Amino acid sequence: MKIKRKDLLSLKDITKEEIDGIFNLALSFKEVIRRPIPKVPALRGKTVCNLFFESSTRTRFSFELAEKRLSADTLNFSASTSALTKGETTLDTLKNIGAMRVDAFVIRHSFTGAPHFLARNTPASVINAGDGTNEHPTQALLDIFTIKEKKNKLKGLKVLIIGDILHSRVARSNIYGMLKMGMEMNLCGPPTLLPREFESLGCRIFYNLDKILSEVDIIMALRVQKERGGKSLIPSFREYRKIYGITAERLKYIKKDALIMHPGPVNWGVELDYDVLELDKNIILEQVKNGVAIRMAVLYSLIGPGKEEIDED
Ligand code: CP
Repeated sequence: MKIKRKDLLSLKDITKEEIDGIFNLALSFKEVIRRPIPKVPALRGKTVCNLFFESSTRTRFSFELAEKRLSADTLNFSASTSALTKGETTLDTLKNIGAMRVDAFVIRHSFTGAPHFLARNTPASVINAGDGTNEHPTQALLDIFTIKEKKNKLKGLKVLIIGDILHSRVARSNIYGMLKMGMEMNLCGPPTLLPREFESLGCRIFYNLDKILSEVDIIMALRVQKERGGKSLIPSFREYRKIYGITAERLKYIKKDALIMHPGPVNWGVELDYDVLELDKNIILEQVKNGVAIRMAVLYSLIGPGKEEIDED
């Protein structure tokens, strides 16, 4: 199914049917990725520009790889070597790149709303690859897809997101997306990083991790975001680990079939003890792996032809 929207900026306004459509496409693209030559001509002739104004490893590389796997032409923008350094405005930069006939922009920016601003100023499709503390829709899609693959269902699963929820665009997109898929959302973190207003989104709030940890099917730890001031809102990393970390001791009390996730990058020894690294429950690298197929599906849904044509490739 091709989704009927120009842009993917948020999971707030996306329907369950659209999410299911993206997941079905991602399954087809996972099969493509497993082929000896993992490439299809689905986006041949299309141009995608990756605009990363903020640092990234996973999102940037998986979008680039997704574009290459779909045979799109790609442009990679680097703010530090662009005309921005000569005083050009961001809007002028975007309009000039757009004038070169770009079909889609993938944008990460430290300002909330930057992708929405770009979307209003270009006829091209815009994909939000993380804006400030607002949303990171493709991360949430790959998270939910990975859970579905592992658990073979979504409805009724109990999810616990732990940590710096205040600054987390991943948490916001996951909350919107997971609630739509019928999952039960529980949030836990220090009061300074978890305002009660999240209750109004349909989440249960916990400040004591040990009150909820043993009940949940999915444990998603979040990074304490030093660059957004998260560290100044906790006493110390040591204290944080003791109260909110998935420690070796706490691993004894989680459900046998619980899954442990993290969007990355991980502060090992803070959010997760190193003991988590070797566990089968740790599906962090499977999240990363699925990021390519999900981003292929999103690009294809926005700027590709109909689904039938992938099967012919
Ligand atoms: N999950 C995530 O957004 O990671 P990067 O910052 O490395 O892209």
